[in-house]
Amino acid sequence: MVNDSLTLKIQRIEKSRINQVDWDNLPFGRVFSDHMLVMDYENGEWNEPEIVPFAPLSLHPATSAIHYGQSVFEGMKANKDEDGNVLIFRPDLNAKRFIESCERMCMPTIPEDVYTELIKRTVDLDRDWIPNKEGYSLYIRPYMFAIDDFIGIKPSDKYKFVIFTCPVGSYYSEPVNVKIEEHYTRAASGGVGRAKTAGNYAASLYPAKLAKEEGFHQLIWTDAAEHKYIEESGTMNVVFEIDGKLVTPAEDVDTILKGVTKRSVVEIAKHWGVEVEERKVSVEEVVEALREGRVTDAFGAGTAATIATIAKIGFRGELFELPSVESRVLSNKVKAYLTDLKAGRVEDEMGWLVKF
Ligand code: COI
Repeated sequence: MVNDSLTLKIQRIEKSRINQVDWDNLPFGRVFSDHMLVMDYENGEWNEPEIVPFAPLSLHPATSAIHYGQSVFEGMKANKDEDGNVLIFRPDLNAKRFIESCERMCMPTIPEDVYTELIKRTVDLDRDWIPNKEGYSLYIRPYMFAIDDFIGIKPSDKYKFVIFTCPVGSYYSEPVNVKIEEHYTRAASGGVGRAKTAGNYAASLYPAKLAKEEGFHQLIWTDAAEHKYIEESGTMNVVFEIDGKLVTPAEDVDTILKGVTKRSVVEIAKHWGVEVEERKVSVEEVVEALREGRVTDAFGAGTAATIATIAKIGFRGELFELPSVESRVLSNKVKAYLTDLKAGRVEDEMGWLVKF
């Protein structure tokens, strides 16, 4: 059930675009549902939220987020169970991360329960846009940005919060090849690497472009100080299976995004009795294990990427090929479990789903 106590204006679309969607050919992030939620912050408080037809936003040319980067966003997914109930995966963790990002970027926050309710209301109105096909979901994109029309460096006084949704297929359509990056840096300690802020993604584009020219889909970032430790992959966190243990960089640093999918993988694996090590993971140990054939699985974990098999890892001109996708027992099992859980086909033992 959605909570009736939150007041919200709704302006419905006159004619839905849903019949124009090619449901068998859904690229990631290019098809948008009928409505979006908009809520403005001014004079120290949030105005009443409003759901309106999905349409371009009109912005002042001096909108401060465009110049100075006060902008944060989130991503989560909704699916339907066989009875037509909507299931949203771990919005509580998502809300907490959104709040942390806002605080780091000097932006106002939205209480966790209000954030979740706004997500539910937006998804509920466009619930027909949730794809019914295996491997497809409704991607939910909440974001906030500074809207002062002012040239100068200071936290904005006014902000816009928006939620829109899009039916999506896979972010990666094939197993990914990643390169361990030792020159460019995603985030330095003390910086904004833990925040889901737009600039982190902009900063990764140039190094990722160079890696693409070498045939890689993505980078594995290393720490800014020494380039000795694995951090994350930008679009997803990274997890290795080495000597039968799951090994992944700990998130007790301020340079890695706290991944909801990664957290879920760690919790599921532990629940299944798999040994998990969340700690500093050195490039040296991963490369040594790759050379010795002790890396039996490697994958990215992210909301958009879900569980993305890593096929090849590049390091200093060497290319390490990992075992075949079919042989990846753990990541295949986790992926299947998460897919079933999100579609309501297995019991939600951990209480991760919000259902309405
Ligand atoms: C997500 O996983 O939700 C992200 O925001 C990452 C981006 C590659 C779409």
